[in-house]
Amino acid sequence: MAEPEYVFHRVEDQRELERLRAIERVFDPASRRRLLAAGVQSGWRCLEVGPGAGSVLSWMSDVVGPAGRVEAVDLSTKFLPGAWPSNVAVRQGDIRTVPLDDASFDLVHARYVLIHLPDFHVALSRMLASLKPGGWLILEEPDFSASRGVTGEVTQLGAVQRVNQAIKAMYDALGMDHALGLTLPSLLQHRGVTGLVVENDAPLSPGGSGMATIMKMSARQLREKYLATGVVTEEDLDLYCRFADDPHAWAIYYATVAVSGRKP
Ligand SMILES: C[S@@+](CC[C@H](N)C(=O)[O-])C[C@H]1O[C@@H](n2cnc3c(N)ncnc32)[C@H](O)[C@@H]1O
Repeated sequence: MAEPEYVFHRVEDQRELERLRAIERVFDPASRRRLLAAGVQSGWRCLEVGPGAGSVLSWMSDVVGPAGRVEAVDLSTKFLPGAWPSNVAVRQGDIRTVPLDDASFDLVHARYVLIHLPDFHVALSRMLASLKPGGWLILEEPDFSASRGVTGEVTQLGAVQRVNQAIKAMYDALGMDHALGLTLPSLLQHRGVTGLVVENDAPLSPGGSGMATIMKMSARQLREKYLATGVVTEEDLDLYCRFADDPHAWAIYYATVAVSGRKP
């Protein structure tokens, strides 16, 4: 298999940690709600795929308690705390290849991980295989095709449109689907996952909001990659960042499609 290609690996670590923490602040409440709706509780055995900076992993560890266990697999564990309670096992590895016991988890969760994998089907197969029959799979992935500037200065709105085109071009060039979230319900349906619950969350957000700040951080860190698409200029990226700071400029930065269901 080719070297894992993860778009954020070659940027400065401190900025990446801040970006991961910003993602956690904005998206953890909905993720926790979805995990609780699946019934996660004391004694469960859970797998957190791509924990990033680890807030969901830490929360799961509290919920499953000493009678439960949480395993985590991430390509890079450098953003995770070094010490964990005894019910947590962290492994550095690729979800597509790391050894996992079949039919061993009550719940598998991944947020914003599969979008980074051109062969996400392999990861999906591994995740499903690792679930017990009746176990829960909860996936939350972006849909960048929902992105659009809504109100703001005309020049800024033009730049926002071009940055959104650059994001698509970047994912296309890497063989990744910038709208992966949209396909998840159908993918899981075809794999026989039952009782699907689907949410499509496309918040309309002002500049300065958590959502705008996450996308501004991404634009700063991925500046060279966005420029390399040839779709945006340096000026576009500066305008985009100013737009993302302006409380009177509104946009749908992206949608998150969340799908929960049970392995047959
Ligand atoms: C955008 S971050 C999301 C982090 C966390 N899930 C969250 O939402 O806060 C993506 C994470 O997935 C990890 N990742 C990417 N490809 C992976 C792979 N093939 N196997 C395991 N982890 C992977 C990255 O290292 C990173 O920690």
